[in-house]
Amino acid sequence: MRAATLMAMTALASAAAPAFAQQVTARSDGAEVRQGAATVRVVALTDSILRVRVARDGAMPEDASWAVDAATRAAHVAVAPAADGFATKALRVRFAADGRMTVEDLAGQVISADATPVRLDGTAFTLAKTMPQAEHYFGLGDKTGGLDRRGKSFVDWNTDAFGFGSGDDPIYKSIPFFLGVGGAGGSYGIFLDNTWRTWFDFGHRDATTLSFGGPDGPIDYYLIAGPTTAEVVRRYTDLTGKAPLVPQWALGYQQSRYSYMTADELRTVAARLRQERVPTDVLWLDIDWQDRNRPFTVDTKAFPDMKGLLGALKRDGFKVVTITDLHVARAPDQGYRPYDEGAKRDAFVHRADGSVYVGPVWPGPSVFPDFTETKVRDWYGTLFNDQVKMGVAGAWNDMNEPAIFETPTKTMPDDVVHRIASDGFAPRTASHAEIHNVYGMQNTRATYDGLRRLVPDERAFVMTRASYAGGQRYAVTWTGDNLATWDHLKLSVQQIINLGLSGFSYGAADVGGFAGGPSPDLLTRWFQIGAFYPVFRDHSAKGTPRAEPWVDGPEHLAIRRRFVEERYRLMPYLYALADRNARTGDPILRPVFYDYPAALRMGCDQSWTFTLGGALLVAPPPNPEQPRAYDVCLPAGGWYDYWTGSRAGVPQRQDGPGQIQSATQATGQATVLGDRVTETPRLNRLPVFVRAGTILPRQPLVQHSAQVPDGPLQLDVYPGDDCHGDLYADDGHSMAYTRGDYLRQAMTCTVTPAGITLRFAARTGRYRPWWKQMRVVVHGWDGEGQVTAARRPVTAQADAAAATLAFTLPDQRRAGDVTIARR
Ligand code: GLC
Repeated sequence: MRAATLMAMTALASAAAPAFAQQVTARSDGAEVRQGAATVRVVALTDSILRVRVARDGAMPEDASWAVDAATRAAHVAVAPAADGFATKALRVRFAADGRMTVEDLAGQVISADATPVRLDGTAFTLAKTMPQAEHYFGLGDKTGGLDRRGKSFVDWNTDAFGFGSGDDPIYKSIPFFLGVGGAGGSYGIFLDNTWRTWFDFGHRDATTLSFGGPDGPIDYYLIAGPTTAEVVRRYTDLTGKAPLVPQWALGYQQSRYSYMTADELRTVAARLRQERVPTDVLWLDIDWQDRNRPFTVDTKAFPDMKGLLGALKRDGFKVVTITDLHVARAPDQGYRPYDEGAKRDAFVHRADGSVYVGPVWPGPSVFPDFTETKVRDWYGTLFNDQVKMGVAGAWNDMNEPAIFETPTKTMPDDVVHRIASDGFAPRTASHAEIHNVYGMQNTRATYDGLRRLVPDERAFVMTRASYAGGQRYAVTWTGDNLATWDHLKLSVQQIINLGLSGFSYGAADVGGFAGGPSPDLLTRWFQIGAFYPVFRDHSAKGTPRAEPWVDGPEHLAIRRRFVEERYRLMPYLYALADRNARTGDPILRPVFYDYPAALRMGCDQSWTFTLGGALLVAPPPNPEQPRAYDVCLPAGGWYDYWTGSRAGVPQRQDGPGQIQSATQATGQATVLGDRVTETPRLNRLPVFVRAGTILPRQPLVQHSAQVPDGPLQLDVYPGDDCHGDLYADDGHSMAYTRGDYLRQAMTCTVTPAGITLRFAARTGRYRPWWKQMRVVVHGWDGEGQVTAARRPVTAQADAAAATLAFTLPDQRRAGDVTIARR
């Protein structure tokens, strides 16, 4: 349709109200509409997820994706057509006369609205949405710039960003997905499935407009409605995939360094960790474990007997993860299998002139596998065979932006040609500009799938630096080469929160900072915070001061150890979160508003307050380098101090907008906002609170996750509304859990006039856990108590000072109630 016709129609449309039918072409699953020269097709994949594709010249973009699989893309539901759009069971979609789309909930609240029709400029495109005052933006992976994206703009272009500043962009990953939170229609997400150098502007250039676009590639995005943030994240991971359950050891403490240079050094570090009783599961070997930095080799002088070394460490409870960067040394005829085999198969990327592209990285001149071809990925995966045989536990894929030395762009030139033969794409060649952002993800996919094939009954563990949307299916990630500064400590949590909201629930940051060398206080604080990261790894650069837990003397070590120990005590809780994440996509580490939407409106500085699974709220000092007292706002419902078990906080109410007062000052119809606690920073304390209404599973201390805890499983009950907890267990490492060898059990508790009823739901799965007994500790308990389980009395011990009632039960395998009555 030409512009003149369109304008004539627009005039008509505004004269007679429902005359949109000319422009809106109904489909059984959505609608098509013209926006200037573009045709916009909106399809309801589900009642809450719309896929929007734009044809620039009459033809829809290729229906293929690295992030969303074919079956998911093909999903659709029937919609109810309307004159100006259509409705699903959850959404109303309306098109204005110029084709602009508005998405509302069924109550008519706007979720998201086009500010302008799509703008095309050659191959480039811009999409613009209105930007309500109340809305805040999150996601886009581990981008810098604080927690909230509002007022900022970002570019997606995977970049080796050594020593990045806390506002630098772009850095390592490209996850073109963001959430809008706090608007009238509830939380929503937008995922632009385009691997080119896309950009996102959250009111940076124009304070009222949110815009995003790219220089080329498909205009293909998903609008995901909530209304809760959790629903958006779950639906986003329905589209792009869930992170698989990690082996349990991956949740333990991990000790790394660039590099442990020899077998002796690694053994010494391991021995010291045990001697100092710092529980640890994983040791990491960085590039110096290899011969001349060549991936898939071993420096046999420094590590003469890898198999023996790893075997001995394994007996002492250590797993070893080794680095394998994606580049392959260009070393023809030297018996270097990755090069020789790859060259024979023509597996490396070429330049436009047909020559194999060679770029310098750690091993010197290197070549690069064409990971966008299935057959190249399959071949690459076989290269891990030797490592698997040595007993290596997992792979660390680094430098996969890809990083190239000695070039100002830090990466391959755009004229590098990739071959695509994968995922339903038409087999074709593609420029590096198209593949760059997805290259690292395909590297991790080759690694993950390779490990799964080599050891089909073990969970594969891969860590990556670069990735794209959906990369959570293959690898956990860390934030790259951060700095040993207080700024970066805070930034790390903001990055991990945003990673979790972007599907990457397993985020890590180098504890202590990679570059620079932390002060003793900073390293101690970093251990405290790191103990709550989804992946907890201490790592530091060559040439910097050592950063193992003992380096600053016994007092610092004692604090650091205490936090590592606490993480191990919390392992049953953490593991249940990992299980939940694998099934739902709920992040492990979350912003407070994930579970408590009102938190967005609470007064305190919450710039890096976070929860671990919703039940534990961690509130570090807003300015961690300063000793100034600060307030922690605890969402409504009541909280306990995790460390003392006593009730925490003074209730806060809100009389009118912005008037937050303490309970005693509040008048009239005040809204209960929650509680407030004033904290004075002390190096040996990190404020952690437990939601009233939690059953928190914990275990006796172990030195590594394969050690069987000695004693009962502990269930700490913090009475409150909607009281619940989850148990999950399995063997911790194999795939047997996928065949029914797991244990899953929900628990609830109800406050009754007589006391508390603790209810165990029926267990699913047939796994037999390590515990034979459960030790229940009820917090906030006043006086004596009488406990009855399976109609029998159970001896209970009241502790007036601690306000607890404790008792031991046999393992509650079956569904049943335990009544706890006041006496
Ligand atoms: C990169 C990584 C870093 C690693 C180093 C050597 O800088 O980000 O973690 O230690 O390379 O492999």
